[in-house]
Amino acid sequence: MRIAVVGSGYVGLVAGACLADLGHDVQLVDNDGSKVAALQAGQIPIHEEHLPELFRRHHGRQLRFTESLPEAVRNSQAVFVAVGTPPTEQGEADLSYVESVAREISGAIHGYTVIVEKSTVPVYTSDWVRRVMLRNATAADTFDVVSNPEFLREGTAVVDFLYPDRIVIGADNPRSAAVLREIYAPLISGSYYERPDAISGPASAKVPPPLIVTSAKSAELIKHASNAFLAMKISFINAVATICESVGANVEQVCQGIGSDSRIGRRFLNPGIGYGGSCFPKDLMAFRSVARECGYEFRLLDEVMRINEEQRNRFLRKIRNALWTLRGKRLGVLGLAFKGGTDDIRESPAMALVQCLLQEGCQIAAYDPAAAERARGVLNSSVEFVNSPYEAATGADALLILTEWEEFATLDLKRLQKVLKYSIVIDGRNLYDCETMAALGFTYYSVGRPSTVPDSPAENGTAAAGKLTKA
Ligand code: UDX
Repeated sequence: MRIAVVGSGYVGLVAGACLADLGHDVQLVDNDGSKVAALQAGQIPIHEEHLPELFRRHHGRQLRFTESLPEAVRNSQAVFVAVGTPPTEQGEADLSYVESVAREISGAIHGYTVIVEKSTVPVYTSDWVRRVMLRNATAADTFDVVSNPEFLREGTAVVDFLYPDRIVIGADNPRSAAVLREIYAPLISGSYYERPDAISGPASAKVPPPLIVTSAKSAELIKHASNAFLAMKISFINAVATICESVGANVEQVCQGIGSDSRIGRRFLNPGIGYGGSCFPKDLMAFRSVARECGYEFRLLDEVMRINEEQRNRFLRKIRNALWTLRGKRLGVLGLAFKGGTDDIRESPAMALVQCLLQEGCQIAAYDPAAAERARGVLNSSVEFVNSPYEAATGADALLILTEWEEFATLDLKRLQKVLKYSIVIDGRNLYDCETMAALGFTYYSVGRPSTVPDSPAENGTAAAGKLTKA
């Protein structure tokens, strides 16, 4: 099928490349000429596993790039809209890009076309897109608007697209639903997974994935409600971690206990320094606004956001507890991205913490396997960017772990101890076992677990094995 994808951001780029891998003929449109030129030259603007492979397979053939929306939309049977919906100052989703794309599409379609909402949008958007198209003299029987929410996570986006937990098609009539069924046929029928060159997925993947067909409005709500629920899970466990710290319990054990209830599940119950990224913070605010517009005060979401904010402050207090005063302290920082496996620093709690620490007068040596370049643009010369975790730790008063990169979970702890000025690790992602850290003599703080504070005042690694205490 011929498909146009409008917007070459995270969702558009991944969806476009994956749709090409399903056998479709995809034109990706962006109004940023330099971005299109870079993509045409084969440059991939994001750090995402499998995307280079999909580019090798389809670039210039089934996956092409253009600045011209009319050119891409003409002759396409489906147009995926994946443009940005940034938050306004009031926290609502700014839908002006979606509206202007709808206007442009209305002047360009030839024959029956399905407009597919891929960006995360509020519940009334499909109605508005339809209205804009009609206002711009598009005949009602030449198009339909369908919501097809995307649940991909950065870092695992390609696999999430090809091995989804479910495919949601929000269509208000059988004709448009049939077009979407055809687009996803290789996944729904399972034929994609039998191909020898299929991108491999996790053993736990549901193959083939279930298809859920709903109304457009229900599909729009499914996306916002899913993200809000996941963020709520994270804030919930962060709140439980706080209680664990004050009573001396271990949040990991608590998670195991509650997560093994199949009604709850273990995933997204990892406490840390709060959620960040381009989706959860923005989508929670947008969902809150949607609810308010519908006359419902969704205060639960306020609390989810408040706990998330507070989690960062609590971590800052933990650093103070460990170091007493902060001015002039040298800190090694591991991780700047909003989570592991990505170079994205948007709404990154790690970046926010580094900025607070700089304001407090700390000197920072930071290492991130992928996000350093982007972080440099924001933090300028105030941070020393180094090339390994050990370099970050060298001469530091303490080492902070802020992002859960796999590389940070397998450090040579003895080597770390040798280079650190004091053997103090403050772990915002619970990557190490408290007992191991205690046995090695580290002063070790994590989230929702007992802290390790060695008996001896000398914390240079020669100290006697530490004992576990309440946080
Ligand atoms: C999220 C949703 O998971 C995805 O379905 C949606 O399409 C887009 O938004 P993403 O933003 O890529 O994806 O990241 P995700 O893996 O969900 O993590 C979001 C944030 O929550 C990160 O800052 C992460 O560190 C944090 N997190 C996640 C936790 O603190 N604990 C957890 O248990 C899980």
